[in-house]
Amino acid sequence: MSKRSTFAATENTATIAPLPTRASLRKAPSEGARIVFDKVSKKYSGQAQSAVNEFSLTIEPGEFIVFVGPSGCGKTTTMKMVNRIIEPTAGSITIDGTDIRELDENKLRRKIGYVIQQIGLFPHMTIAENIATVPKLLGWDKERIADRVIELLELVELDPAEYANRYPKELSGGQQQRVGVARALAADPPVMLMDEPFGATDPITREKLQDEFLTLQSRIKKTIIFVTHDFEEAIKMGDKIVILGPRTNIEQFDTPAHILAAPANEYVAEFIGSGLNLKHLALLDLADTELGPLDAAAKDAASVGIDATLRDALDAVISGDGQPIFVLDANEQPTASISIEDIARRLAAEVEAMDTDQALETDEVVK
Ligand SMILES: Nc1ncnc2c1ncn2[C@@H]1O[C@H](COP(=O)(O)OP(=O)(O)OP(=O)(O)O)[C@@H](O)[C@H]1O
Ligand SMILES: [Mg+2]
Repeated sequence: MSKRSTFAATENTATIAPLPTRASLRKAPSEGARIVFDKVSKKYSGQAQSAVNEFSLTIEPGEFIVFVGPSGCGKTTTMKMVNRIIEPTAGSITIDGTDIRELDENKLRRKIGYVIQQIGLFPHMTIAENIATVPKLLGWDKERIADRVIELLELVELDPAEYANRYPKELSGGQQQRVGVARALAADPPVMLMDEPFGATDPITREKLQDEFLTLQSRIKKTIIFVTHDFEEAIKMGDKIVILGPRTNIEQFDTPAHILAAPANEYVAEFIGSGLNLKHLALLDLADTELGPLDAAAKDAASVGIDATLRDALDAVISGDGQPIFVLDANEQPTASISIEDIARRLAAEVEAMDTDQALETDEVVK
């Protein structure tokens, strides 16, 4: 699972004037906001049951939260209530302590970048005009908007000279997705809502966009709600995952590693599907796992031998306080550390490998 830094601005900007606003993006990125859902429900008129039912969740500033669940379970509805495109029937949503109903809708939406399902670029506007939508609403002057458009196109690795004046239909699906992300980032909002943002791309483009966005997020630290159908994408992208059942019932809300290691119920286990379970974990050796540096573990941290399985290591980490623990070499000397994140990375790699194997097997059968 490489996290290449391809979304980062490239250096080949010789043909373009220096960008005065680029530094401001680095220096003062908004640091994300806390979002609290409190028993939020939405019942569409004419429907017998509510689409979203008493949904409660707290998202910390800068957290990357993934909603994953079956079609129709209420993911898009929940997102649209955050920027008040849809009003809840009951309950409240606060952003940094303020009930969103107290905020002017337009002001609220400027604080929230939104990448909608199916990209949603305006077809009759050029790429530059699409990206400029919110800055224009904010009344920025022309020069500032033009600078920002160039800056964002570079950020998502589209050459402004080549793409700024094209129309969406003149771009590939993956390129359009990038423009969607650029447009959502335009006013540097603390919150990003991303509804299946990479859904319409082929697997290779999708992986590239995922890697690029992770690199970008490590710099910009937005609070992100990211929706996907794809559990693998959830594992890869999320700090935490919300697994939703019908009517946005929260089946499990936890880190990818915890969910993989200990699915809360049958539904979650089924959702993980072809992935790993605890039995599999016991078959994986700690020795084959990329470990963390020695100093990641606190002085009084617990330890586990290098000959242990990943299951043993996970048990030891979880039965402590969840912090990294020491890994002891054959002479019982601390040699490295292991954290939940290290275990999660190994698990994600295993899931990926499994799916590849399955694909290969299917291939064999087809042949
Ligand atoms: N405008 C509407 N009027 C009535 N019912 C609606 C409306 N919009 C959505 N619904 C219903 O609410 C439920 C939740 O829809 P929503 O779009 O939130 O699902 P979703 O989880 O985003 O699904 P998908 O994964 O397919 O995008 C569905 O049963 C849907 O049919
Ligand atoms: Mg949806």
